[in-house]
Amino acid sequence: MVDFHYLDSKWVRTKDLKISAFDLAVLRGYGAFDYLRVYKGKPFMLDLHIERFLHSIASLKLEASKTKQEIEELILEGIKKNQKDGDLSVRLILTGSGVFMVMYEESTVYPDKYYENGIKAVTFREKRVRPDVKSINYETAMIAANFAKEKGAFEAIFVDDGKIYEGTNSNFFVVIDKELITPKFGVLKGVTRQVILDLARKRSIEVIERDIELGELSSVDEVFIASTRKEIMPVIQVDDIKIGNGQVGDMTNKLMEEFRKLTKK
Ligand SMILES: Cc1ncc(COP(=O)(O)O)c(C=O)c1O
Repeated sequence: MVDFHYLDSKWVRTKDLKISAFDLAVLRGYGAFDYLRVYKGKPFMLDLHIERFLHSIASLKLEASKTKQEIEELILEGIKKNQKDGDLSVRLILTGSGVFMVMYEESTVYPDKYYENGIKAVTFREKRVRPDVKSINYETAMIAANFAKEKGAFEAIFVDDGKIYEGTNSNFFVVIDKELITPKFGVLKGVTRQVILDLARKRSIEVIERDIELGELSSVDEVFIASTRKEIMPVIQVDDIKIGNGQVGDMTNKLMEEFRKLTKK
């Protein structure tokens, strides 16, 4: 069981992981966070996550109370404390009032069928403010996710001015004529996104970072979403648009396979 967390300056059990109701995280939804996974006891892409966390802190004009090195050491210490040589997830938080936490959680595991058969997504007309930042304020994402649930879909995709940006907590990719395309601007630079782009380039797959028009969806070959929590997840339908032949595409399958190899290393 995962039961140890770092709160400000000490390790506490889950039952003692508490902050003040006066914290700006509660009063204003103000704070930075990041979320990473630990596979078989090893944190995945640790550097990139800590760097992004520090970037989010700086962008939100908060003050980092720990260095990159200190955060790294705390994360590793917590993995040991929770006695995990298996999988778990780590959430880094700096609240608006300066409370620093390293929280440990069991990793979310989605049903195999989501990866084998693909999922449905719906579009949601909204744009994230400060898309490059991981803020604890997920108000828009929560409303979009509820909308997706109401529509029987697994993810909501933000669309603004006819352009597709990203999911509520995932990046968005399409495949057209064997080229892998993902938005470059107005999105969170996901760590999973980066890993996928690197993987693809290494396999000599043409990668294009550009705007994707909603109108393009009816003629794309494949769609998938990607995040730390979901990894690579195929999408077979967006609103009423069936993607490709309605089955998980070859490139998506190939990238899922390669990505899994990396996490199992
Ligand atoms: C809005 C948004 N886009 C993309 C992602 C994917 O980022 P990562 O791959 O670093 O988990 C997330 C992750 O939570 C997110 O919240």
